[in-house]
Amino acid sequence: MSVIEGHGERMTCPEDKAEESNCGSCHDQPRAHRVAFQEKQDGENLWDTFELLQIDLGCESSTDQCTGNPSCCSKNVLRKQRHWEKIVLAKKSKRKHERERRKARRAEEKGAAALQLSKRELKAIAKERLLEAKETGPWLCVDLSMTHHMSQKEISRLAAQIRRLYGSNKKAQEPFWLYLTGCVKSSPIHEACVRMNDGFANYLMDVTPESYLDLFPLEKIVYLTPDAENALEGVDPQKVYVLGGLVDESIQKKLTFQRAQEEQLQTARLPIHEYMVKNINVKNYHSTTLTINQVFDALLTFHETKSWVEALKAAVSPGKGYIFQDITL
Ligand SMILES: C[S@@+](CC[C@H](N)C(=O)[O-])C[C@H]1O[C@@H](n2cnc3c(N)ncnc32)[C@H](O)[C@@H]1O
Repeated sequence: MSVIEGHGERMTCPEDKAEESNCGSCHDQPRAHRVAFQEKQDGENLWDTFELLQIDLGCESSTDQCTGNPSCCSKNVLRKQRHWEKIVLAKKSKRKHERERRKARRAEEKGAAALQLSKRELKAIAKERLLEAKETGPWLCVDLSMTHHMSQKEISRLAAQIRRLYGSNKKAQEPFWLYLTGCVKSSPIHEACVRMNDGFANYLMDVTPESYLDLFPLEKIVYLTPDAENALEGVDPQKVYVLGGLVDESIQKKLTFQRAQEEQLQTARLPIHEYMVKNINVKNYHSTTLTINQVFDALLTFHETKSWVEALKAAVSPGKGYIFQDITL
């Protein structure tokens, strides 16, 4: 009989059951038993498990425990048999668990590969949409010719806003074609964009030192400015919209409005007053001056939804001190 010691008790190999009445007979041939048993396990090397479990595989007689008492011996044999079966079951379930884990991991890897593929496809679709917008419009310029009005800190904030604006456009179903006009190479704003915006050199947009005035016919240009009298009615794909590349909210009042008037350009503001009212719960701060990326989010949303409510929801944060009029909702 092969007796296996583990967890403080000894166990019997099932194959040895027949020999139980003959306790001690295997004592002389432990190795032969072990080899025979291993072969029968059809590749499942349970002995390894026992070694892992730090079970002593020595084959000893249990006559010292049940000397001359066959019922004690058979009870012990049954108990040990159950214990043995438990170990075999545990081993089987561990293997099953590992198989399932491997399967799940393979499926996960496959899924990730598929996701990567669709990411690539999405990128290709986004590129296609952008290039189509380049041909058909709408077009939007960020006028970077006024950065001398700003501090280095404001220039860095503007570079971050350009990154967000570009990010929104890339994700849009109906993007604009973008221009950074008045953007001179190695100027502080150009350097800030290169430094702060990963992959800036590969952005799908035109970066040019030229002015929008040199690129488009005057009648096509609409300068967007918070100080315009006229509210923007819609997004016309035949027009070129210009945003002032400025990060100032109060200091440079009417800067872009005056510039656009000097250049005899059409101007327009977002229709905030047409859809929203001052939130009377906010006492001190009410502003309709947004950042360039917020204005651009409004344009993109309007272009896609044809709804100014949706567009303004996307652009005007509660911090601006404005809420929607009930009738507009
Ligand atoms: C931070 S604002 C600069 C405000 C600055 N005082 C000016 O004179 O334009 C940045 C740009 O976003 C656009 N913008 C901001 N709020 C706007 C609004 N309510 N309607 C239209 N354009 C707006 C304008 O093009 C503006 O130049």
